[in-house]
Amino acid sequence: MKADAKTPWGGRFEKSPGRFLTEFGASLPVDQRMWAEDIRGSVAHARMLANQGIISEADADAIEEGLSQIYREIREGSFVFDIADEDVHMAIERVLTERIGPAGARLHTARSRNDQVATDTRLHVKAIIVDLAHRTLCIRRTLLRLADEHFGVVMPGYTHLQKAQPVLFSHHLLAYEAMFARDFTRMKHAFEAADVLPLGSAALAGTTFDLDRDYVAARLGFSRVSVNSMDAVSDRDFLLDFIYACAVAQMHLSRLAEEIILWSTEEFGFITLDDEFSTGSSIMPQKKNPDFAELVRGKTGRVVGDLTALLVTMKGLPLAYNKDMQEDKEGAFDAADTLAASLRAMNGMLDTMRVNADAMRLGALGGYMAATDLADHLVSRGVPFRDAHEVVGRLVLACEKDGRTLQSLTLEEYRKHDPRFGEDVREVVDIDRVVERRVSAGGTGHDAVRVQIKTVAAGIAADEAWLEQAEG
Ligand code: ARG
Repeated sequence: MKADAKTPWGGRFEKSPGRFLTEFGASLPVDQRMWAEDIRGSVAHARMLANQGIISEADADAIEEGLSQIYREIREGSFVFDIADEDVHMAIERVLTERIGPAGARLHTARSRNDQVATDTRLHVKAIIVDLAHRTLCIRRTLLRLADEHFGVVMPGYTHLQKAQPVLFSHHLLAYEAMFARDFTRMKHAFEAADVLPLGSAALAGTTFDLDRDYVAARLGFSRVSVNSMDAVSDRDFLLDFIYACAVAQMHLSRLAEEIILWSTEEFGFITLDDEFSTGSSIMPQKKNPDFAELVRGKTGRVVGDLTALLVTMKGLPLAYNKDMQEDKEGAFDAADTLAASLRAMNGMLDTMRVNADAMRLGALGGYMAATDLADHLVSRGVPFRDAHEVVGRLVLACEKDGRTLQSLTLEEYRKHDPRFGEDVREVVDIDRVVERRVSAGGTGHDAVRVQIKTVAAGIAADEAWLEQAEG
């Protein structure tokens, strides 16, 4: 193809890539969504150039005016993006220059797309993180509300997916809150990693112009300025931190989804999903499927894939910018979009599900889950723990053969099995007492969970405060 006058590097070329390679090389469909950040960054850069006497105030005014017009058009949907522009940066700059002439052509002074794209991406990711942090807080508030509302409901706690010890449903829910609280912390870290201004690094080596990078940083809301121009244009660690935070959060959602799927089976029956969050079958009229929980679980693979993809993209790259890095945004945005949608779906599911306290309680009565307490009871009466374990083990075996629960045995039956069982043995196996006895800090006992609820509420409030200042 003949050299296309539209490319900004036309001067040096006699031929240019054809349609296929132009599209192959373009990132516009992916980076178009950074248009607002691109405009903000350009306005800040132009103002700084004028402040430093590098361009005139009149040129900076024309640039700002032209970019404001483009901003309105993109927001209203009347701006036409042309894939021939390769990326959002060139699309906006080209149209600006077509409209305002030489002033537009001065915008790119002391700037490269290498520091420009790094700046836009960091701004965009910071905004995404604020949104995801809000969604994470939403689900944490829902879990806290449910924990509060269903306080006292006892359910089986599992290890190896075998009944282990009874726990409060609130305790189980708040275990997920703890995961999402850590996800929030990871998002905060990713935000801080992204909060560095690369603009002013130019292509890789800095520029001959005397820039005021601190001014640009302050204007764009960055708290720091990058210290090494080569690192600044080739660093995508902030995206890796971000996708990692997404991947872990998505994994947590996936685990919760798995429990929701299990709990809504007839076999468990612990919860009933709202019809709005369930689907039917095209052939089996009776079916009610937890499709959305399954999708949350299923989408985890792609987010983990997004993380792996960027790690592999980066691993062989020499300094500084390489075009490979254009592949960074698609995965990062996919991880963000997937997590945002999953958080929304999961929050709705939790918010509307019916909790079947009776089924949970019935489940907690099975599985001989008071056995540890029975052994502890014998220990308190002087029996060595290993012997106590043996005595209770044999009792469980006998119950299993007779189809009995520990709660249905009479004092006489206990004593017949082993005379060392005390008067109060039936209270020992009372399922509410079994839970209540877990008094250790962080345990499932009622008092410990009451303390936990307060701690969780305080943690949510602190994170809300962080988010408010992050939003500026
Ligand atoms: N579209 C490019 C990207 O996303 C922008 C930077 C291109 N720089 C360059 N020297 N080709 O990475």
